[in-house]
Amino acid sequence: PPSSSDALVVFGFTGDLAHKKILPALYAMVKKGTLAVPVIGVASRPLDIAALHARVRNSLEQQAGGIDDAAALDKLLSLLSYVSGKYEDAATFDRLKAALSGASRPAHYLAIPPDLFEKVIQGLGAAGMASDARLIVEKPFGRDRASAAELDAVAHSAFPEASIFRIDHYLGKEAIMNLLYFRFANAFLEPIWNRDHIASVQVTLAEDFGIGDRGGFYESAGALRDVVENHLFQIVALLAMEPPVHREFEAVQAAKAGVFQAMRPLAREDLVRGQYEGYRQEKDVADNSDVETFCAVRIFIDSWRWAGVPFYLRAGKQLPVSAGEVLVRLKPPPQQLFDDASSQPNHLRFRLQPAPAIALAARVKRPGKGYVGEQRELLACEDTRGEEAPYERLLGDAMSGDRALFTRQDAVDAAWAVVDPVLDDHAPCLPYAPGSWGPVAADTLVVEAGGWHDPDPSPPPAPCE
Ligand code: BG6
Repeated sequence: PPSSSDALVVFGFTGDLAHKKILPALYAMVKKGTLAVPVIGVASRPLDIAALHARVRNSLEQQAGGIDDAAALDKLLSLLSYVSGKYEDAATFDRLKAALSGASRPAHYLAIPPDLFEKVIQGLGAAGMASDARLIVEKPFGRDRASAAELDAVAHSAFPEASIFRIDHYLGKEAIMNLLYFRFANAFLEPIWNRDHIASVQVTLAEDFGIGDRGGFYESAGALRDVVENHLFQIVALLAMEPPVHREFEAVQAAKAGVFQAMRPLAREDLVRGQYEGYRQEKDVADNSDVETFCAVRIFIDSWRWAGVPFYLRAGKQLPVSAGEVLVRLKPPPQQLFDDASSQPNHLRFRLQPAPAIALAARVKRPGKGYVGEQRELLACEDTRGEEAPYERLLGDAMSGDRALFTRQDAVDAAWAVVDPVLDDHAPCLPYAPGSWGPVAADTLVVEAGGWHDPDPSPPPAPCE
């Protein structure tokens, strides 16, 4: 088995991602005893030890539900050190090297915007800190297909493919892993999982908050780059892939890459972009910004299995709820015996978050004389007790060299190829009111498939409690 990393370097230590996800994950790992190697934070801002510790406490209090294990916190703080400096400065990497003394197989985690990757990777290479090391990079991998390829070349100039871990944290979520499991651990699904029986598929990732303090990052991203091209595409890949020949990394990656390769490149009319009213007044946002905070796309997968089945994806900020859901609409029975049956097609619904559950909607007869029924859902709730947070899982996997939940470059490239034509060639953003489901044009896009199903994030009914 691959050897474990003997130190973790986190670039972007004072950033939003570190505050929200990475520090809580490190704390959880220390609590469980799965992290016991030095952690070195790197960022440009100078911080003394007291400020560093205050940052950690602050993150845990705000994001990890408080500090419930003082010994684990002390342990984490004792593992932690910090290097400040600019990423273009060779001296920063000299200081990092000194801080790493004793570690020979570090994992370097780039929790920073993609335009800084190159400087950091070059700095690591030049300072001799890339050999025997792992590179963990955050999405988005580049801004478009060309920059992703450049980035990949830079990464490969210092690290071999097997040492590069591209994080898409959605792949570390149990509900997303369950898409793969549910599809291939059950035999009943496969016979209907194709264009003969499935009318359409839709995926919604809704958030009921705005961009917060991330204006700087968001202005260079937008919803299509931030979550659609990666998180939502990964969900589609798991839903649409051919059965992999086995469960090992290369086989699953090849099956997923096949989905992106078969996706038709987006045309202008497949895309609706929206911007919530008030976005331009957010911190670090241009007054005339045309960056989308909402995005809906229609995708076709030109394969034997999926020809003609539309996949609709939408994601947005300041929507009515925070929830993630997949809805697979089935075709109606070939012949209508009952008058009422055509209105609502059967569906399979995967609630990804909050409270993951899988529901199969079927029609059931109502008591009474005639044959009149209603749509009812058979519900399988997922047990989330003891679930590891995605970053905890993914950092642990990367540091131990397990690549299963990471993405391979050919899949990244093929995914960019789908969105590339519309990244810059698109209609201007349409405004929408905060708390609404985005611009009306997004509804028009999906009207032929029966409209969007708006996820309801309230807890599932009794059997799931
Ligand atoms: C991140 C995006 O990748 O995913 C954020 O940059 C988004 O904009 C987040 O809010 C959603 O992740 P989760 O796990 O909170 O659903």
